[in-house]
Amino acid sequence: MARTSRITTGTDRRGARLAAEPDLEPDLEAEPGLAAGPGLATAPPPGAAVLSDIADPGLALTGLPGIAWAERAMPVVGMLRAEFAGRQPFAGLRIACCLHVTAETAVLVRALTAGGAEVHLAASNPLSTQDDIAAALAAEQRVTVQARSGVDRGAYYEHIHAALDCEPDLVMDDGCDLVNTLHTERADLARGVRGGCEATSTGAARLRRMAADGSLRFPVVAADASATRRMIDHKYGTGQAVLDGILRATNTLVAGKTVVVAGFGPCGSGIAERARGLGAQVIVTEVDPVRALGAIMQGFRVLPMAAAAPMGELFITATGSRDVIGEAELAVLPDGAMLANAGHFDVEIDVPALAGLAVTINPAIRPHADEYVLGDGRRLILLAEGRVVNLVAGEGNPAAVMDTSFAVQALALAWLAGAGLPGAGPAPEHGGQVLDVPAAIDAEIARLTLASLGTRIDTLTDAQVRYLRSWQEGS
Ligand SMILES: NC(=O)c1ccc[n+]([C@@H]2O[C@H](COP(=O)([O-])OP(=O)(O)OC[C@H]3O[C@@H](n4cnc5c(N)ncnc54)[C@H](O)[C@@H]3O)[C@@H](O)[C@H]2O)c1
Repeated sequence: MARTSRITTGTDRRGARLAAEPDLEPDLEAEPGLAAGPGLATAPPPGAAVLSDIADPGLALTGLPGIAWAERAMPVVGMLRAEFAGRQPFAGLRIACCLHVTAETAVLVRALTAGGAEVHLAASNPLSTQDDIAAALAAEQRVTVQARSGVDRGAYYEHIHAALDCEPDLVMDDGCDLVNTLHTERADLARGVRGGCEATSTGAARLRRMAADGSLRFPVVAADASATRRMIDHKYGTGQAVLDGILRATNTLVAGKTVVVAGFGPCGSGIAERARGLGAQVIVTEVDPVRALGAIMQGFRVLPMAAAAPMGELFITATGSRDVIGEAELAVLPDGAMLANAGHFDVEIDVPALAGLAVTINPAIRPHADEYVLGDGRRLILLAEGRVVNLVAGEGNPAAVMDTSFAVQALALAWLAGAGLPGAGPAPEHGGQVLDVPAAIDAEIARLTLASLGTRIDTLTDAQVRYLRSWQEGS
């Protein structure tokens, strides 16, 4: 029996309208349990109960130009959308997503639905939700959206639960909260999931801990670790976008400032390079000796945070860890120091400790900048409440960057669905594991991106291939 969905035009409990889906109406004859019509005792079909929860359906038209603008800068996802439309890799599959609800995500969602998927999207960060984009997406066919900007933690998890109500075949996560919920409060649904895709390194780290203790119930591709993504998204995209968010929030002059960057992974190194490019003196803090050595070799000064704290004027955390700027560091920061976080969660700067030290908090002295006045008279400026500064105070990554990231995620999901490069999906023994993005997907993304840029590259001659494969030929 084909699984079908019964999403119909209607109004949800807060007024969001859903598009009519005549082609998804259940075949009542084929589904005996449904033949008695509405109000019957049998359970509704999977996905039938999912309705959108958005701020204002009337914003749908306002959101469309933003999506069209993002589409122009996302040619690779556009190429995949056209290819998926022909190949239908997600035909009949439901995908629950927890992603930032932005114009770029809308472009990804359209590619997935073009490939036959039904997509149920929850916001991965209420502060980055664009209500007009949520409304525009919620009006599309085979899409529901659970996202209102600025909602509290309770509503955030309600939204994740609502997306999971579709009983997903595949999941796409950004930070692992959806997959975590799926393995704790909604464990009954996990067995129906073929696989998932995680966008961030922080989420992938949580998944690896789940896999290590045998808790993970399906294979998850860590999209974040793909070579193309780490280069284009983390290093160049985040590097630029984080400085952009900070400048929007502060309009500060970076030239001549001492900027402390915590963490020298792809994100931190991109941020450090961009800050240096604007004329800052950059200090890097690290816990990994190899990464710290890399920072030294690239010409940065490396210090422990305790030593850097009294010297910095602008602090940017990008570690994926917590309390990187904690009570001890807050006690020695100079007057006027600005604090920003680029890491996934809002725990890298110890905001509760900062609030505890403050005698006065002056909220929003500028948009996304709160001033904390401490007992000794020092004023510290916290940007974006310690949340991801480029998403809260800026516009997030440029669409061109998300093109690469989302292309990786879309192809990884197609692979998990058994309908993509390279071949028929993960082997059965890979269930419950965190998997790298297959190299063939990375190569395909790079190939498509180069094609979109009109860049041609050389190819190996047959003699070169033979030479490179041979161990007999030497000097
Ligand atoms: N702002 C964005 O748009 C954006 C984009 C991608 C990723 N991220 C997030 O940024 C964070 C970093 O990403 P990445 O890809 O560079 O990760 P990564 O794990 O490769 O690098 C993090 C680095 O921080 C170091 N580190 C850990 N704890 C530290 C501490 N206490 N002090 C100093 N250094 C410490 C680690 O040794 C590592 O080198 C993650 O949370 C990731 O999810 C943000």
